Amino acid sequence: MSTSGNAVLKLKGIEAGYGRIQALMGIDLEVHEGQIVTLLGANGAGKSTTLKTISGLVRARAGSVEFMGEDITGKNAHQIARSGLVHVPEGRHILRGLSVKENLELGAFTVSDAKLRQTRMQEVFDLFPILGKRQHQDGSLLSGGEQQMLAMGRALMHGPKLLLLDEPSMGLAPKLVLETMRIVKRLNEAGTTILLVEQNARLALRLAHYGYVLESGAIRMKDEAARLQADKSIVQAYLGE
Ligand SMILES: Nc1ncnc2c1ncn2[C@@H]1O[C@H](COP(=O)(O)OP(=O)(O)OP(=O)(O)O)[C@@H](O)[C@H]1O
Ligand SMILES: [Mg+2]
Repeated sequence: MSTSGNAVLKLKGIEAGYGRIQALMGIDLEVHEGQIVTLLGANGAGKSTTLKTISGLVRARAGSVEFMGEDITGKNAHQIARSGLVHVPEGRHILRGLSVKENLELGAFTVSDAKLRQTRMQEVFDLFPILGKRQHQDGSLLSGGEQQMLAMGRALMHGPKLLLLDEPSMGLAPKLVLETMRIVKRLNEAGTTILLVEQNARLALRLAHYGYVLESGAIRMKDEAARLQADKSIVQAYLGE
């Protein structure tokens, strides 16, 4: 039996790094069902490494990752995606030479039911009408904002229980940043639990239920998002705003 209550995701003492660089010094973090949790911190703090360690792209050197009560530490990225934990990495990683539709189909490699794949694709097109209109166009020819939508759409094709989003608004015009945040909120309201890394701390805290502040690979602060948001000194000291 799981002892994690309604924690969908539970990190305990996670250490990870690259060669001689230790990027994470022992991260404890929980995401509860139905929440949006945001992970904030300056450039190089270890936000992306945390997400990569959760999704199996980077191997944990110590500690454990539990997803829906199951220990997934050391599992490979495909196995983890199959279990419903889906990562939208930094940058968009849209495959050149493949149409929008083919990019979406690629996202559904975990879904064997063809009918379900079709339903999901229709849901993605409802959420992002532009992707429906451009479905036969090469995905790499979409604008930056559209490619971000495609990257999120591809993740949704898996039907994720937990979505890891790494800076979904990166490089987008202000209007599209707000649109992206609205979509994140909608996905959450539709039942997807979300761990969100976002450069715009104020925006992320407005959206999230709970927040963690990462500094040099360690959690420096964690609290209800509203409380973190209210404390201007925290935002200034840890996020350099
Ligand atoms: N592939 C890699 N090889 C070596 N070092 C890396 C690699 N990726 C990240 N690092 C280092 O690990 C540390 C954490 O990086 P990470 O990408 O997790 O930070 P981040 O918080 O996501 O930063 P940003 O806001 O710039 O995206 C940094 O010191 C970074 O230089
Ligand atoms: Mg990053």
